[in-house]
Amino acid sequence: MIFNQLNYTKTAHMSQDSALIEPLTFPVSQKTIKNRIALAPMTNLQSHSDGSLSKDEHNWLKMRIEGDFGMIITAAAFVQNDGRAWNGQIGLHNEHSADSFATLCREAEVNRSLTLAQLFHGGLRATAQKLNPSPSGGTNSKGETIGYAMQIHEIKECIAAFVESAKRAQRVGFSGVEIHGAHGYLVHQFLSKQTNTRNDEWGGNFTNRARFLLEIVRGIRIACGEDFLLGVRLSPEDSQWFHGIEFSEALDLAAQLAEDEKVDYLHISLWDAFKAPDHQPEGIAAITQMRNYVPANTPLITAGKIWSSKDAQNVMELGADIVALGRVAIAHPNWAKEAINSSFNPSTPPFGVAELSKAGLSEVFINYMKRWPNFVQES
Ligand SMILES: Cc1cc2nc3c(=O)[nH]c(=O)nc-3n(C[C@H](O)[C@H](O)[C@H](O)COP(=O)(O)O)c2cc1C
Repeated sequence: MIFNQLNYTKTAHMSQDSALIEPLTFPVSQKTIKNRIALAPMTNLQSHSDGSLSKDEHNWLKMRIEGDFGMIITAAAFVQNDGRAWNGQIGLHNEHSADSFATLCREAEVNRSLTLAQLFHGGLRATAQKLNPSPSGGTNSKGETIGYAMQIHEIKECIAAFVESAKRAQRVGFSGVEIHGAHGYLVHQFLSKQTNTRNDEWGGNFTNRARFLLEIVRGIRIACGEDFLLGVRLSPEDSQWFHGIEFSEALDLAAQLAEDEKVDYLHISLWDAFKAPDHQPEGIAAITQMRNYVPANTPLITAGKIWSSKDAQNVMELGADIVALGRVAIAHPNWAKEAINSSFNPSTPPFGVAELSKAGLSEVFINYMKRWPNFVQES
């Protein structure tokens, strides 16, 4: 596919102030988000060891529903036991865990917020067993073997597990699912040239490396139907933690998902929503390039360093249709309500423990956030 002219311009009828509160209807499911503000998926370790949703994690999400986020994307939820990566992580790997989300989904519906379960398998980075399933095996930074190459029947079982988890999500009332294809976990490991060195139909060229993700997408569409919201999160370039994805391939993959595979949205994870791809000296923002490459009717979500409502408006000017908020939403559960004021500029880290606790974080989540530099005030 040839790179289009950079012809993106802001939708003419949106003024700066109204852009964030304008509803948007997704192209395939025809579900409508009431504003342009999503809660980014954030692992918070607050749930039960069997993967079911705890009161603490429920409360954390419910406060953001009440804070008027148009879309709530859950933390990464494992689809198979061997895909879990953290203690306290949620799962949709069985009916019991799925059932624990039903009340949350109802509460979101009452508040007209969409609920998306983020479907995940850790692959090489899972922690449930000593050797993890992965495209081609692998070692950790100490050179110790941590993964084995999945056999073809295991690949097919894993695809089926993603589809079964999506069916469970649909059964308990989620509006849809987002496939976690970013950040170096199993789907990303299949996409990456570095972690996928297979020479069968699941590895090698781009078509083969994308097959795992595309089969998951197709399986979910067939099993859950077109009115179920289906999005994919992608990392479009390398980072310090993962390698093997080229920006040009990410553009092609995104366009294919939009044009041929009936996804409702693409979620581009950049960690800095304003940035240009690392290896492009001309410096055009990655999200602008995506917007110009992917069909205009497929909404783009992006996240990364969006803090104020002005930041959000600027990212929409660059081409995003919906902004996903991570760290700012941890401290500011009512961000979406307050962003109606176009000069809303919420306070910045470090945050005190009492403040975070008031924002609905349990002690476990607060302790987890201490691992993020300068987020929690030292006592
Ligand atoms: C505590 C924490 C947990 C996260 N967990 C996930 C996750 O489960 N799935 C995912 O796709 N991204 C995850 N992310 C990345 C966020 O979704 C988001 O892309 C990132 O934080 C950048 O946005 P921000 O600058 O607004 O925080 C996590 C980020 C944080 C801070």
